[in-house]
Amino acid sequence: MTDALALPQPVTLGTPLSPGATRVVLLGSGELGKEVAIELQRLGAEVIAVDRYAHAPAMQVAHRAHVVDMLDADALRAVLAAEAPDVVVPEIEAIATGALAEVEAAGVRVVPTARATRLTMDREGIRRLAAEELGLATSPYRFVESEAELRAATGAVGLPCVVKPVMSSSGKGQSVVRTPDDVARAWQYAQTGGRVATAGRAVRCIVEGFVEFDSEITLLTVRHTGGTVFCDPIGHVQVDGDYRESWQPAPLPDGVLAEAQRVARRVTEALGGWGVFGVELFVVGDRVLFSEVSPRPHDTGLVTLASQDLSEFALHARAVLGLPVHQPLRLGVGAGEGAAASCAVLAEGQGVPRFVGVDAALAVPTSQVRLFGKPRVAGRRRVAVTVARGADVVQARERARAAAAALRVELTDERV
Ligand SMILES: Nc1ncnc2c1ncn2[C@@H]1O[C@H](COP(=O)(O)OP(=O)(O)OP(=O)(O)O)[C@@H](O)[C@H]1O
Ligand SMILES: [Mg+2]
Repeated sequence: MTDALALPQPVTLGTPLSPGATRVVLLGSGELGKEVAIELQRLGAEVIAVDRYAHAPAMQVAHRAHVVDMLDADALRAVLAAEAPDVVVPEIEAIATGALAEVEAAGVRVVPTARATRLTMDREGIRRLAAEELGLATSPYRFVESEAELRAATGAVGLPCVVKPVMSSSGKGQSVVRTPDDVARAWQYAQTGGRVATAGRAVRCIVEGFVEFDSEITLLTVRHTGGTVFCDPIGHVQVDGDYRESWQPAPLPDGVLAEAQRVARRVTEALGGWGVFGVELFVVGDRVLFSEVSPRPHDTGLVTLASQDLSEFALHARAVLGLPVHQPLRLGVGAGEGAAASCAVLAEGQGVPRFVGVDAALAVPTSQVRLFGKPRVAGRRRVAVTVARGADVVQARERARAAAAALRVELTDERV
């Protein structure tokens, strides 16, 4: 009897759309959330997708959807009260994290934790945690709230440097200052390009010394009920602060992988909770600098759709439901296809996407596509991704790129 009581509670999952359902609210319903929703449903969860626009990708595969401004704490509280979820899974950074802390205090599991979502949505929170509390190596940095402070900070961190709004993602509002003449433009750009417009107040920014890295990697790190596992490192290319291509495994000099895992373990342990983390690192010689971390699946990790038996989305679904995760198996290793790559497909302009040449894209050996189902494009948006395996990273990247090149996105006027 005592032994039985000492065993951990068995994890029990319900049946969707029944009173005993295991309800999961996804906050953010983009293409990454869509894959998470599918994986959660494979485990029988009832999935409720939330975003600020209708027909977002994850909404199209969820049991229910709500259109809500997730930065509006009252609106968020109302949805969470109505849905009474067991688990809340943030998929984006721009969320009223105070409301998450309240539901967590009331016993709802917030992924990975409410504190982690608050710290990582703000570049200042995560940078101070990593550099000042954990003592991890990062680029030199300062925080500024005016053009004059920015000018002074460029002196302190040195030129070139990178200016980023503390609340921003996908490179928005981010630019490089190479000479003192760039300061005014970088300040202006950060004020208008970021995510959260604060009426009448300057947008706070981080100024980081520019790292001349040899490579940058994402180390997907999974914290789950049984411990921590790492995926093989993912290499990637960013254009304008936005990911275009990724590949796995990223080749690293001797000893660097162990150091990268040590850094990732420190950061994710400090953040706590269960789920996938995308730990972004710069590799300089044999040194590893911490850059930032997403407490959720990472866009560069889309490659795991082709590279692993459990994609980052499957790993996340398992971990957040309190289930154990095994070391993901990299597919194709014995079969001469041990590397994989992804290539983002962008559309630019206005209208509803139509994908021409899906057959040609899928004729590329080993290729797969994910068409996100974004309801419309306004500006430049990622609308699909291709993934492929190959004998090595070079071949895998060629295939993913060839599949992407075969896909033509037309933007149509939906009123026609
Ligand atoms: N200090 C730096 N030195 C050199 N390159 C940098 C630096 N900071 C950022 N970059 C480059 O810009 C990219 C985007 O930066 P960062 O990850 O901080 O921004 P982000 O807006 O959060 O992007 P995302 O949301 O796509 O992860 C990095 O992946 C890297 O390529
Ligand atoms: Mg990043």
